[in-house]
Amino acid sequence: MKDATGELTILDQIDLSIAKGSSVAIVGASGSGKSTLLGLLAGLDSASEGSVRLLGKELSSLNEDERAALRSGAVGFVFQSFQLMPHLTALENVMLPLELRAEMPHSEIAARARSLLDQVGLAQRTAHYPKLLSGGEQQRVALARAFVTHPAVLFADEPTGSLDAATGYAIIDLMFEMNRRNGATLVLVTHDAELAERCDATVTIEAGRLVNGLSV
Ligand SMILES: Nc1ncnc2c1ncn2[C@@H]1O[C@H](COP(=O)(O)OP(=O)(O)OP(=O)(O)O)[C@@H](O)[C@H]1O
Ligand SMILES: [Mg+2]
Repeated sequence: MKDATGELTILDQIDLSIAKGSSVAIVGASGSGKSTLLGLLAGLDSASEGSVRLLGKELSSLNEDERAALRSGAVGFVFQSFQLMPHLTALENVMLPLELRAEMPHSEIAARARSLLDQVGLAQRTAHYPKLLSGGEQQRVALARAFVTHPAVLFADEPTGSLDAATGYAIIDLMFEMNRRNGATLVLVTHDAELAERCDATVTIEAGRLVNGLSV
């Protein structure tokens, strides 16, 4: 990857293969490249070298629109910084991915979004705008938004990072329920030992390289 100041190698020699339906925790020190790797795997960023296949598609062979279509159809992403839309309420934020697809009636989308907000414990916060929500509440809205499409792959960057232990457990349960019920693949960046422990495998990244490159 290049940054504004020129060439900077952030990830190097990453060889990783994740089977459909499995769950993988990506762990490593701050600045080691975890978020960068997650963004590449999800097709949010593109690597200067190398190749990424997501759901059988080589990402570098797709243009920006095709990558966006693949993401909106099959991928849920929870950003480390949540990235909620500030001018939309919690409910509207969760509805957005399905509204953009325009495949379901508005009322059905609203019902599904409400049910997810309920599952993350935010039934009383549906009309709140992000700036009126705590960090943990924003994180849960972001999780509900990522779940709402029933994605085949969920990428989540420290999904329990802003949550207390009890809420964190509930969110972890919800992610693994998706994994079980829908066969969703989970790719999670986490510092949470409990969460890493529940995954099928853990990969460690150190200064942009995998310590234990593997197939899961
Ligand atoms: N767009 C960018 N341009 C230049 N450098 C970047 C960019 N994004 C990330 N970096 C650098 O890449 C390295 C890895 O960043 P990344 O955000 O992937 O780390 P991380 O492992 O997710 O850390 P944390 O645990 O703190 O979230 C860091 O040194 C960071 O400064
Ligand atoms: Mg990060």
